[in-house]
Amino acid sequence: MGKGSGFGKTILFGEHFVVHGVPGIVSAIVSTADATVKKAQKGINVIDTRKGAKGYAEKKKIQQIESIERMLKAMDMDPRKVAMDIWLGGNLPGFSGLGASAASSVAIARAIAEEFSLVLADEKINDIAYEAEKAYAGNPSGIDNTAATFGGLIWFKKNLSMDSNIIEQLSIQKPVEIVIGNTGIVANTKAMVTGVGERKEKYPTKYSAIFRQAEDLTNEGRIALEKFDLPKVGELMNENHRLLQEIEVSCKELDHLVDLAIKNGAFGAKMTGGGGGGCMLALTPGKDLQKKVALAIENEGFEVLRSKIGIRKD
Ligand code: PMV
Repeated sequence: MGKGSGFGKTILFGEHFVVHGVPGIVSAIVSTADATVKKAQKGINVIDTRKGAKGYAEKKKIQQIESIERMLKAMDMDPRKVAMDIWLGGNLPGFSGLGASAASSVAIARAIAEEFSLVLADEKINDIAYEAEKAYAGNPSGIDNTAATFGGLIWFKKNLSMDSNIIEQLSIQKPVEIVIGNTGIVANTKAMVTGVGERKEKYPTKYSAIFRQAEDLTNEGRIALEKFDLPKVGELMNENHRLLQEIEVSCKELDHLVDLAIKNGAFGAKMTGGGGGGCMLALTPGKDLQKKVALAIENEGFEVLRSKIGIRKD
């Protein structure tokens, strides 16, 4: 029996823009997807027991099968000849936007490696999970699988010429409380990423101006995080949300959760991940503020996850 885990994540700055080579900042969260793999007699069976948004597992089923096939090929294994049972669990909820697919791919890749006695470095696990992510995201940046594999707070820049990406661990004074609010809408990351790509082609002038602002924002975000200037980080998150609205990946439920978090004192809030549903991230330093914002969101009937960004890796 082989076992493996992958971290969930939340993107602080730069989702979508990161697909096109703009840097992004992502933080792993402590919640993980956990996988157990056991060789079997016939076929590949997935038993998914993760707590998720209603319908998450069903909606992602076809993409999940494709992702496992891609993963096996990247491990030089023939999906038609491998027989195994895969159990998926862990405390990372299947909310869209938390990198649940990448976390599960990393967990499964690690569990397969253990069950089939392959010794794979984290860099290789990251590459395998990136292949798997293509099933969920079409043209992924690689930011999700990087956070899922390595954990920590990461500066990420996709190298568009296909050489290795820039991945730097950032450190901040101490971990900071956040609230993640779930719209409950299961989003299709692939469709959202494709839509941005199409609009970028169609409106080059408008989009290149927005993309330049996104790049400036991530750079400023890094400085503010490293100085531990949390009001500034929050302000930049709000600006990032406005840019994401402009590229049409937010939705009224996400905008509502952002407003609610700000009204209740969050330092900043933005959608996080692919958008079109999925999750909102609010920066809420201190347990009291975190509780206030979380309760305000729960009182309106939305699910929340209380977590932290910037947790040190070990
Ligand atoms: O929705 P998620 O958790 O899969 O995050 C997607 C992040 C994007 O930037 C939209 C896509 C990517 O591959 O970077």
